Amino acid sequence: MDVQWNDLIVRDARALTASEIRDLLKVAERPEITSFAGGVPDPALFPLGDFNSVYRDLMDDDTAGRRSLQYSISEGLPALRQWIVDDLATNGAVRDISNILITCGAQQGLDMLGRLLLEAGRQIVVEKPTYLGAMQAFSMRRPEYVGVDMDDDGPIIAQLEAAFANGARIAYLAPDFQNPTGRSYSLERRLAVLDVARKYGAVILEDAAYCKLSYDGTSLPSLLALDDTGGDLAAGTVIQLGTFSKTLAPALRIGWVTAPRPVIERLVLMKQAGDLHVSTVNQEVALRAAGRLFPGHIDGLRDAYRHKRDTMLAALDDFMPDGVTYTRPQGGMFIWLTLPENIDSRRLLELALEEAKVAFVPGQAFFCDHSGTNTARLSFATEKPDRIRSGIERLAALIKRVHNQY
Ligand SMILES: Cc1ncc(COP(=O)(O)O)c(C=O)c1O
Repeated sequence: MDVQWNDLIVRDARALTASEIRDLLKVAERPEITSFAGGVPDPALFPLGDFNSVYRDLMDDDTAGRRSLQYSISEGLPALRQWIVDDLATNGAVRDISNILITCGAQQGLDMLGRLLLEAGRQIVVEKPTYLGAMQAFSMRRPEYVGVDMDDDGPIIAQLEAAFANGARIAYLAPDFQNPTGRSYSLERRLAVLDVARKYGAVILEDAAYCKLSYDGTSLPSLLALDDTGGDLAAGTVIQLGTFSKTLAPALRIGWVTAPRPVIERLVLMKQAGDLHVSTVNQEVALRAAGRLFPGHIDGLRDAYRHKRDTMLAALDDFMPDGVTYTRPQGGMFIWLTLPENIDSRRLLELALEEAKVAFVPGQAFFCDHSGTNTARLSFATEKPDRIRSGIERLAALIKRVHNQY
């Protein structure tokens, strides 16, 4: 008898499904395609020479080198957690190293928090649209998503309050340069989110993946910073996810969760059971690289990405037909396009790959309720400015033609 995999594989695991557009987007990797589809940093901006010397210096140091190749504690290296605590303080968040767990990227933090806080049928509030990877992590627990609409200042507070009033106690939110829209919350909206969460005893999972990539010199306090715990290390409404993926290199796989102590204590046990700890050598390298390169390297990233953002916005302004609107992000890597209602962005992607030789991500995948069929995510991070301009010009011409056909 054949193995009956569908009986063996548990329902939670069967809840994970492959993205329909993944195959289509494989085409985006071809050199003739100008790709606005990727969600990754520009590899040309990785500080290769600095990494070379950081690794070499580490291995030239007999004691530190050997220590970095050994097992280490599940919480993460104390010196790295202290660096994170000091960095959080520059944004106004007062926390302690016992509030920090080092994770394998922010993505593992999302997975672990999903396993800690979600179960089948439990509600979780997400932005509409939201980060697809978060929904993938959470969906393994088969929660019930409650979508909240957004405007240019953040989530609609009446909808957030209604979700909490209806029993939701967890919200996953990204207040800075959100993936996929590039939008940020205003200070007033941040305070209102916290007020309403506190009113219902709800927890906010704050994704701060892009918070350092601010291009207009603005840096608002995070929800974590606004969540004043009065020095009580066990208190707090906000759990924040951080990462070095957007500022150093994603391949380090160094992220972190900042949370009240009782949460960290649970997560540490899960980390021990799951994979013991994050790579010691990569933690050591991340610490040394951040110490050596920040803030100068981040300033360089800001200049490079700002130029690309400006190039894409100028091209959109110059070429997009009436009826197409887009966000004007002050940071991050993404611009969010809203097309005329009659254009399905998945169909448009097929034509764009074939005719305009341009790739983007259709927006529907980022909506928990599968709405947003006329939306698209454009990344300006990886293409060179001249290709950004010509790619947007070709995409705009295609949209004009498709729109006129209907
Ligand atoms: C909003 C957001 N959160 C989390 C992540 C995961 O980042 P990492 O696991 O590389 O730290 C990403 C990656 O693209 C992201 O865009």
